[in-house]
Amino acid sequence: MGKPYVFITRKLPDEVIEPFLEEFEVDMWPHEGIPVDSETLYSEAEKADGLLTMLTDPIDESVIDRGKRLKIIANMAVGYDNINVSYAEKKGVIITNTPDVLTETTADLTFALLMATARRIVEAEQFIRENKWENWSPLLLAGKDIHHKTIGIVGMGRIGQEVARRAKGFSMNILYHNRSRKPEIEKELGASYSSFEELLQESDYVVCLTPLTPDTKGLFNAKAFKLMKRDGMFINVSRGATCDEHALFEALSSGEIAAAGLDVFEKEPISADHPLLTLPNVVALPHIGSSSKETRISMIQLCLDNLSLVLKGKSPKTRVSL
Ligand code: GLV
Ligand code: GLV
Repeated sequence: MGKPYVFITRKLPDEVIEPFLEEFEVDMWPHEGIPVDSETLYSEAEKADGLLTMLTDPIDESVIDRGKRLKIIANMAVGYDNINVSYAEKKGVIITNTPDVLTETTADLTFALLMATARRIVEAEQFIRENKWENWSPLLLAGKDIHHKTIGIVGMGRIGQEVARRAKGFSMNILYHNRSRKPEIEKELGASYSSFEELLQESDYVVCLTPLTPDTKGLFNAKAFKLMKRDGMFINVSRGATCDEHALFEALSSGEIAAAGLDVFEKEPISADHPLLTLPNVVALPHIGSSSKETRISMIQLCLDNLSLVLKGKSPKTRVSL
C-alpha cells in the first residue's frame, strides 16, 4: 500500500513538513500569501486522504463531498467557522483545530491591542513620523487608563481566561459573559459573571473572544454599542462577523463609544478604503492574534501530528466535536 496523500492549502516552511515525509506524500499550494483557488481545492479534496487547511479556506459540503478518501481535515486555527463541521461529521471526516498552543500568544496580542487602543499608541507613532511633534503639551495624545478600569470579557474560554489573568496583573476589575459560569476563574481572579447587557454597560473595555456561531453572529450590533459607556472601547480578536461593522462605524463616528481595536473583520482582507479605517480612533490589525513565530510553527506541527495520528488509524490530539 502506498503512503497516504496530504494536501496543504498554503506554502508552509519545508523544515516543519520534512519530518513527516516518511509517513505521507505531501503536496502544497505554492503560495504563502494567496489562498488556494476553489478548483484546486476541489481536485485535491478528491485525491487526498488528509487536508491541512487555513481559516481562509471555505470547507463546505461541496468540498467534503468530493473527499471520497478523505479522513481528516486539520485546520490551522482554533476557530473552525470556515468548516461545515456537522456535515463533515455526518460524512465521517474528522476535523481538528489548534487550541492550547496559541492560547497565551493570542492573549498577549489581545492585551497589546487593548493597550494600543487605550493609549493611542498607533496615532502617537504616526504623529512623530508625520513630523507633528513640535512641543510637549499637557494633554498631548492623552488616552485612557487601563489599570483599575473594568474589562468585560465576552467568551471566557482558554484565551479569555489568559486575558483575564493579564488584566488581573494590571489591577483591573474583571467581568465576563460566557455560556457557562467559570467558578474557578471567579475564585482565582476575582472575575464576576454578568449578563451581556450589564457587561456592556459597566465595562471600560469590552473584549470579544467568543467563537463565531449562529448565536454570536452580529452580537455586537447598534443596540450593544448604545449600551456601552461613551468612553468605552471595543476590542475584537475573535471573528469579524461577531460584530456589525456598519453599527460599529456609526457608534465610533457619533461618539457613542470612544475607540475600537480590531484584529478581525467581516471581510478579510479589509481594504484600505474601508470606512472604519478613516477613523483615527480605530486600531486595525491584519488578523495576527496567534502570530508569533513560535506559535505559528507549533500550530503547523499540531496539524501535522493530527494528520499523522488519524492516517495511522489513531485518535487525533485535538478533535473538534459539536
Ligand atoms: C485564528 O483566528 C484562529 O482561529 O486560530
Ligand atoms: C480558545 O482556545 C478559547 O477557547 O478561547
